[in-house]
Amino acid sequence: MTLSSLLLASVFSSACLASVWDFDISVRNTYRTIQWDLGAPGTPYNLLFDTGSATLWVLDGNCTDKCPNISGLPRTTYNLTSTGEAFYNTTDTIDYDGGEVSGYLVSDIAGIPGTDVSFRQKFASITSSTWAGLGADGFLGLASSSIAFTNTTAPFENAMQLGLLDQPRFAIYQGTALPTVANQSPENDGVLTMGGSHEDLYADGEVQFFPVETPFEVYKAKFLGLSGSNHFPGQNEQHNSLNWAGDMVFDTGSDLIEMPESQIEAVYNMTPWTYNQLMSGYRPLCSDFNSTWSLSFTFGSDDDHKTFTVTGDQLATPGYVDDDHCFPPFNPWGSNNIILGARWMSNFYSVFDFGSFDPSNYDLRIGFAPLKKEYQPKI
Ligand SMILES: *[C@@H]1O[C@H](CO)[C@@H](O)[C@H](O)[C@H]1NC(C)=O
Ligand SMILES: *[C@@H]1O[C@H](CO)[C@@H](O)[C@H](O)[C@H]1NC(C)=O
Ligand SMILES: *[C@@H]1O[C@H](CO)[C@@H](O)[C@H](O)[C@H]1NC(C)=O
Ligand SMILES: *[C@@H]1O[C@H](CO)[C@@H](O)[C@H](O)[C@H]1NC(C)=O
Ligand SMILES: *[C@@H]1O[C@H](CO)[C@@H](O)[C@H](O)[C@H]1NC(C)=O
Ligand SMILES: *[C@@H]1O[C@H](CO)[C@@H](O)[C@H](O)[C@H]1NC(C)=O
Repeated sequence: MTLSSLLLASVFSSACLASVWDFDISVRNTYRTIQWDLGAPGTPYNLLFDTGSATLWVLDGNCTDKCPNISGLPRTTYNLTSTGEAFYNTTDTIDYDGGEVSGYLVSDIAGIPGTDVSFRQKFASITSSTWAGLGADGFLGLASSSIAFTNTTAPFENAMQLGLLDQPRFAIYQGTALPTVANQSPENDGVLTMGGSHEDLYADGEVQFFPVETPFEVYKAKFLGLSGSNHFPGQNEQHNSLNWAGDMVFDTGSDLIEMPESQIEAVYNMTPWTYNQLMSGYRPLCSDFNSTWSLSFTFGSDDDHKTFTVTGDQLATPGYVDDDHCFPPFNPWGSNNIILGARWMSNFYSVFDFGSFDPSNYDLRIGFAPLKKEYQPKI
């Protein structure tokens, strides 16, 4: 009884004060996380925010052997609280690119740190996880509920449906910090905003929007071309372009850029290295990631598309064995689609706009704007 009256009161008062939530983004063992509270009183959980998946999950307090932890960081696990309800027989498994988790359904109170907002949220309590190095207590998926853990609504969509937010959008400024071998958990100043966006503060110029493909599962747009331009010392300026049938997937849960195997050699020909060189163990110097070369992706729909350019320095990810060497920016994978990960997106203020709070009226688009100088990632 206490439980449901408490809930009604908090949802009602929050609904009258639809708001904008700003979550600080931390870098924990190279993973980018925000904090959410679960339970009552709320316990904060560090969650990897992921536009490539849709589930809110936390590691179960009973999961020890099947939830190995080599993150070097303490984790907060979830135990059923007085406001929680567990559905042990409602189980599911989520298979990610980098790991797999299984668990059961829980319903409990979610709280937004720094506010008095709380609401009921369904999520997964995980009893088996292969994410051993994860510097977080779980994931916060930002994609469509249609691909979420069974019987859960993705937390952002849940908040929209409960009328808690000013605008049907979230926005990401990833922050200036880049993890290195020397410091895998650097101080960061990133902000993930739900219910609004702060391009006035972070963006240098207009946010350029393009439509997201339907049906909405993850954030995808049609790939419409990649062009490269370089002017290496002692060579003439060169321009190349490539195109193939595929989609771009915008995935903050990936670091780098996944490229079709069949295109990877041609893509590397736009950079200072050849794919063969990298395959035979060559490690790029971070100083090769500089503004003598640039890459421009075009994506959207046939009649509404945008082109975004990054220079070599904007793709540098230090830490390939040591901090003088940077990871090759593209990995091959067995798909014609491209996954554009967090490193590319860290150069832009990004706005994920649903167009409506109501799932049947979604009109999804994503916008990117270059960051002001002081907000660009620092190597
Ligand atoms: C949950 O239980 C585990 C095992 O008893 C304990 O280590 C952990 O601290 C508990 N978590 C919370 C948030 O109390
Ligand atoms: C966790 O373990 C405790 C002690 O064995 C048990 O009482 C509790 O029901 C377990 N929780 C889950 C979710 O299995
Ligand atoms: C995870 O590893 C860290 C660092 O070794 C340790 O402090 C912590 O107790 C481990 N387990 C959990 C559940 O936090
Ligand atoms: C859950 O599963 C167990 C074992 O299969 C079964 O005995 C129990 O009745 C189920 N509980 C519910 C609520 O379905
Ligand atoms: C899960 O969803 C199914 C289908 O809508 C429903 O029948 C079932 O009762 C739900 N289970 C729980 C635990 O919410
Ligand atoms: C920029 O990168 C190119 C390509 O690797 C390299 O030849 C050049 O020396 C670099 N320039 C600087 C200033 O480091």
